[in-house]
Amino acid sequence: MFDAQSPSLLETPLALPSGQIIRNRIAKVAMEENLADGTHLPGAQLRQLYRTWGAGGAGLIITGNVMVAADAVTGPGGVVLDAQQPVAPFREWAEAGKAEGAWMWMQISHPGRQVFVATHATAIAPSAARVDMGKHSSLFFEPRAIPRQISERSSTSSP
Ligand SMILES: Cc1cc2nc3c(=O)[nH]c(=O)nc-3n(C[C@H](O)[C@H](O)[C@H](O)COP(=O)(O)O)c2cc1C
Repeated sequence: MFDAQSPSLLETPLALPSGQIIRNRIAKVAMEENLADGTHLPGAQLRQLYRTWGAGGAGLIITGNVMVAADAVTGPGGVVLDAQQPVAPFREWAEAGKAEGAWMWMQISHPGRQVFVATHATAIAPSAARVDMGKHSSLFFEPRAIPRQISERSSTSSP
């Protein structure tokens, strides 16, 4: 039952097995904002947005998708972190989100077959099966299947 005298569960810190202590139980979930700059880097808009969320008191901010392959993005403003991208904009993005004490975790993603034809990207997935969304299926690429050696290697590696 709600007790106005004691701190609510929402305000109670959460200690994770990793040792991280999240200051409360409020988390911003992964939500792709499509606000990257023209080179798929986090720029002023994303810094401002995450600074605002951090200042709002959330204990944890999980970024939207950060794609690991520049040729597979879900939209024009998607963030990409691959070997060609500079690290400094990501550091500044993290500093903005964490400025008021929130943790900020980056969601690392690959969209698999969920790539719109309109992005002019490419789609690679475990099998060459297009997203089935009825009459909207043609909006998505028919993906190329991941070569067998790669899919077998990833299924035997640690989780
Ligand atoms: C605009 C939008 C963008 C989203 N982007 C991501 C994303 O980048 N990564 C992810 O794992 N989920 C993403 N999601 C899914 C949300 O994290 C969440 O799981 C989903 O909205 C269901 O939660 P809800 O019922 O509280 O809305 C997105 C959802 C929305 C509405």
